[in-house]
Amino acid sequence: MELVFATNNPGKLREIEDLLGSDFRLRSLKDIGFEGDIPETNPTLEENASAKAFYIYNRYSVSCFADDTGLEVDALNNEPGVYSARYAELDGNKVFGSRGELTGANIDKLLRLLKDKDSRKARFRTVISLVLDGAEHRFEGIAPGMIIDERRGAEGFGYDPVFVPEESSRTFAEMSLGEKNRISHRAIAFRKLVSFLTEQRDDRSP
Ligand code: IMP
Repeated sequence: MELVFATNNPGKLREIEDLLGSDFRLRSLKDIGFEGDIPETNPTLEENASAKAFYIYNRYSVSCFADDTGLEVDALNNEPGVYSARYAELDGNKVFGSRGELTGANIDKLLRLLKDKDSRKARFRTVISLVLDGAEHRFEGIAPGMIIDERRGAEGFGYDPVFVPEESSRTFAEMSLGEKNRISHRAIAFRKLVSFLTEQRDDRSP
């Protein structure tokens, strides 16, 4: 089965390729000749994931899936949510430095807004939209946890240094990639997608 993953992120592509196995031919946006970014301007993770998957499906007529992830914090009405990547930019602060490096402004903003809040409960949530032969299927992965008030650990990316998943005493940034992938939101959503695709393949094989 041939499938496009609507991403420009080689790390994500490798992660899912690993889970999918050899019966699936996974292609990236680059592989199908798509350059640039797909607009992500919707108010929810669901709508963003759908819009990306349909954007590619409608132009290339290939089955395709796309993901969108956000950090949802209870005390901040589920923000940053869809704004996770560029949270600090909403206040005019730079998220990336001149060499493309992260400035840390997103975490600074998060910790500032949570300073006087009692609840530190949060979750990472990934939504995947799969458009298979024109029909949409959605998959969700949630990693519940809490935001601590200072950074810990050097692994991972994004908000990992301040996120402690449930039933752990360490942040995502204090875990190896393998450890994080056993419990992460993205891995949970990817595994649901993979088991759905595997069922489809089995139903279609003679
Ligand atoms: P994306 O939809 O996977 O591009 O994620 C959007 C933003 O959410 C990223 O730029 C990060 O700020 C944040 N994010 C997503 N996944 C993770 C994660 O596993 N750890 C920390 N931050 C994440």
